[in-house]
Amino acid sequence: MPQTDTQSKTILRSLAGETLPVPPIWMMRQAGRYLPEYKATRAQAGDFLSLCYNPELATEVTLQPIRRYGFDAAILFADILLVPQALGADLWFVTGEGPRLSTVTTQADFDRLRPVGNIHETLNPIYQTVRNLAGELPRETTLIGFAGAPWTVATYMIAGQGTKDQGPAHLLRTQDNALFEKLLDLITKATIEYMSAQIDAGAEVMKIFDSWAGSLPGDAFEKYALAPAREITQELKKRHPGIPIIGFPREAGDKYIGFAKATGVDCVALDNSVSADWAAKHVQVDGCVQGNLASTHMVTGGQALVDETRQIVKAFSKGPHIFNLGHGITPDADPDNVQRMIDTVREGE
Ligand code: CP3
Repeated sequence: MPQTDTQSKTILRSLAGETLPVPPIWMMRQAGRYLPEYKATRAQAGDFLSLCYNPELATEVTLQPIRRYGFDAAILFADILLVPQALGADLWFVTGEGPRLSTVTTQADFDRLRPVGNIHETLNPIYQTVRNLAGELPRETTLIGFAGAPWTVATYMIAGQGTKDQGPAHLLRTQDNALFEKLLDLITKATIEYMSAQIDAGAEVMKIFDSWAGSLPGDAFEKYALAPAREITQELKKRHPGIPIIGFPREAGDKYIGFAKATGVDCVALDNSVSADWAAKHVQVDGCVQGNLASTHMVTGGQALVDETRQIVKAFSKGPHIFNLGHGITPDADPDNVQRMIDTVREGE
């Protein structure tokens, strides 16, 4: 494994709280269907899950956007739904529709899941991908590993698919709260083991994706978004002192305020429903932020892309900032617009 050179890794500097003249940049879903080279490798692998579990090809697609654009970070190619699969849920992807899973809504369903200690059997190929990447990435590129947050993962396990309003998960949360909390706890423990193994394999930063955090009202946000993020963060930092962690409680709105302090994460990733000026004032005061250009600009391009990118860079220029989109890039995006965003962020260099 090459020596980690913290000084040359701009993302690690931002995460440590440094304000850099030009923010480092990477992009959610940077390895994805908007890239022809991704589509080619994906076709070679067969389906999406076969690609995730093929260390050689998963390494290749992770490296593709680094070669093409020179992003400051690579994110492990995998999916948040591999953890439920490792816990024994059936998982498959329906083309054009999204993920499907066997559901967990009763005690009997829960009892069929595997113990946390058994997840590595399924997830070993993912750790191999991390080891490959740690050896192959350029010295200046940071390797980010990730997992889904327990609430977001639970919404898929309970509904058996993606849902607009996370209705089935909210129903279980209110109608059989004991079972819901047992499930959340199991996912939390599995997530800690999964992330810890990624760090052992060479991942340098962890990101917790809580895509549906915004649907949790009031106290429920504290209990099911904030508390699990805190538990995961505290345990990872205990086992791996100094490991930087990015939290992404998507669409948390004003609940972004204080999230870093309450959980111990080093950086809060912002979706584009909050303005950069607002977030600079209320969230960046506590440390590093990541975000938050609307991913639609990667489809539409033009002067609006340049103006909005400049505005975000400027708004966050007085504190630590990692430039990113507010959510993942979509398959209909134009790869040239990605280059334009990067050039705009780096134009001051
Ligand atoms: O950011 C990255 O490039 C790293 C890899 C990554 C993927 N998914 C690859 C992927 C990460 C970090 C994720 C996270 C993820 N996966 C989330 C949380 C972030 C978010 O987007 O809100 C969620 C909710 C999932 C579950 C998931 N995976 C869904 C709902 C879908 C289907 C939607 C779609 O785009 O088809 C996926 C599939 C998926 N995960 C793809 C990729 C590149 C597309 C697969 C393909 O057909 O090639």
